[in-house]
This record gives sequence, structure tokens and C-alpha cells, in this order.
Amino acid sequence: MNKETLKKNLREIPDFPIPGILFYDVTTLFKNAECLQEMIDSLYELYKDKGITKVVGIESRGFILGGALAARLGAGFIMARKPGKLPAEVLEETYAKEYGTDTIQIHKDAINENDVVLLHDDLLATGGTMAATLRLVNKAGAKKAYVNFVIELEKLNGRKAFPADVDITTFLKL
Ligand code: PRP
Ligand code: MG
Repeated sequence: MNKETLKKNLREIPDFPIPGILFYDVTTLFKNAECLQEMIDSLYELYKDKGITKVVGIESRGFILGGALAARLGAGFIMARKPGKLPAEVLEETYAKEYGTDTIQIHKDAINENDVVLLHDDLLATGGTMAATLRLVNKAGAKKAYVNFVIELEKLNGRKAFPADVDITTFLKL
């Protein structure tokens, strides 16, 4: 992974969505053909020998690379969505946010006990969203699950949201 190319192309927006927050805008990484290819190639190299059968992407920014990678790996793609979006029976997990709670869902029949799963999202902040999605995937009976993010906000210590034995990779530590 050419991290400098990614860093150079990641747009930083001060005071978004509220004053005091520096927002890392991954749309500029998706827009740039070289960065897009770089991220997909690097993900493929990391996971091509793991026997991945399903990639789970988290709504919405986890759908972009998640879908591209699933196609490249020859795996299926699963959408982890916010409540009320998936039409069939769902499994769900609710998790604590700074204020209140949030819920994430997958279809009940999305994952089975033969699946080796890669969960992907753009950003590791508190880790709450991904840790809940991992619990869902485990609840569905997956044989093994790996976790990947493009960006890790190290100061927020999001890795602490996961059990110590979870295999987590991140490309850019900011
Ligand atoms: C952001 C980001 C991750 C999540 C990280 O998504 O894309 O999915 O928050 O936060 P956490 O580690 O504290 O759980 P957001 O909910 O803003 O939605 P979006 O992807 O649809 O823009
Ligand atoms: Mg998101």
C-alpha cells in the first residue's frame, strides 16, 4: 500500500459535522482512480489466501470497497444496514454511542457456518459499529471473521471495542 499517495489524496474538513471535529473525507480516495485501485489491490493481497467466502460491508461507506473486493476475491457480498432497510428477516445488534444507541442489521440467511468472512468499513472511530457487526456475523455462525478498515483514528482507541484475538487490519493510522 502506497500510504503517502492515500494520505495526500484524503481530504480533511475542519469543523464538520460540528465545530471542533476534523472530518476525514474518503470520497476523494474513491474519486481518484489510482487510490481506488491501490486500496482494492492492497486489500486483495491481504486477504486472497484466507479462503474468504463473504465480504460484509457496513452502510454506507463500507459498501464501496467491500463490493469491489468481494468481486475480486470471488466471494459474495453482504450489506450490513441501518434499521428498516433490509426487506427479509434480520439479525440485529444494538450498541452504545456517545449519546444514545444505534442498531445494525444483516439478513438472517446472509451468513452460514461454512463462511469465512471479511468485515470491511472505511473508518475505525470508537469501533462500536464494527464490533456490533462482528457480533452479528458470529451470531450467524461464521466459521472465521477478519476485520478491515481503510482509516484508523488511533486516539479513539477503537481496537478496545473488540476481543483481543480479532484479526484487524487498517491502512492509514491518523
Ligand atoms: C461512520 C464511518 C463508520 C462509523 C465509524 O459512518 O463510516 O461506519 O461511522 O464509527 P465508530 O467506529 O465510532 O462506530 P456513519 O455512521 O457516519 O455513516 P455513513 O458511512 O453512512 O456515512
Ligand atoms: Mg459508515
